[in-house]
Amino acid sequence: MNNPWDARYSSDDFVYGTEPNAFLRNQAHRLSKGVEVLCVAEGEGRNSTYLAGLGLRVTGVDASSVGMQKAQRLAEERHVEVTTVVADLAEYDPGIDRWDAIVSIFAHLPTPIRVPLRERLRRATRVGGLLILEHYHPRQLEYGTGGPPDATMMSTVQQLRADFPDWEVLHEFEGEREVIEGKLHHGLSYVTQFIARRTV
Ligand SMILES: C[S@@+](CC[C@H](N)C(=O)[O-])C[C@H]1O[C@@H](n2cnc3c(N)ncnc32)[C@H](O)[C@@H]1O
Repeated sequence: MNNPWDARYSSDDFVYGTEPNAFLRNQAHRLSKGVEVLCVAEGEGRNSTYLAGLGLRVTGVDASSVGMQKAQRLAEERHVEVTTVVADLAEYDPGIDRWDAIVSIFAHLPTPIRVPLRERLRRATRVGGLLILEHYHPRQLEYGTGGPPDATMMSTVQQLRADFPDWEVLHEFEGEREVIEGKLHHGLSYVTQFIARRTV
């Protein structure tokens, strides 16, 4: 077990809980039944299983095999189907014009992985498809209520607008939110939210 996330996920409890991310739950009305959704850095499956329960066709990808196994167990318990892929997002190929939505919740990645991944995710989204994202903002370092100790792994609206040029921005927010999502994301936080649609 040399993936630190495998160790983190190795207990029976779910470190981010089994409830979906609150922002995703509030925004899920934008996704119609039957659409194909990719949840990147999906962890233990709380978001993918929630979306599958709404009737969406969901794939979760994460480098942690322990996390993806727990996602499958959660899906079984909830009587929903989720496709899980164990892969490093540094290399993962999400395809071309493949997804109706990409969901990225607290998917904090180092810049050399994040930048080319976003390029691939842009192409992997169908025209008309959505990106739904909530990450910590670099100011989260002042809050100490979750997230990596590295501001370069966090996201800003300015950076997202640059990474998704020509996309129609439907929602953007940088600011405080009380995040109560398991023991590792707990308390008043500073987040970035971004929803955009591929237009061309
Ligand atoms: C903060 S957790 C978020 C999990 C999930 N999105 C949630 O909100 O419950 C970050 C996740 O990113 C995954 N991760 C980190 N680096 C990765 C990489 N290079 N490739 C794939 N997954 C990665 C970790 O395994 C972990 O599950």
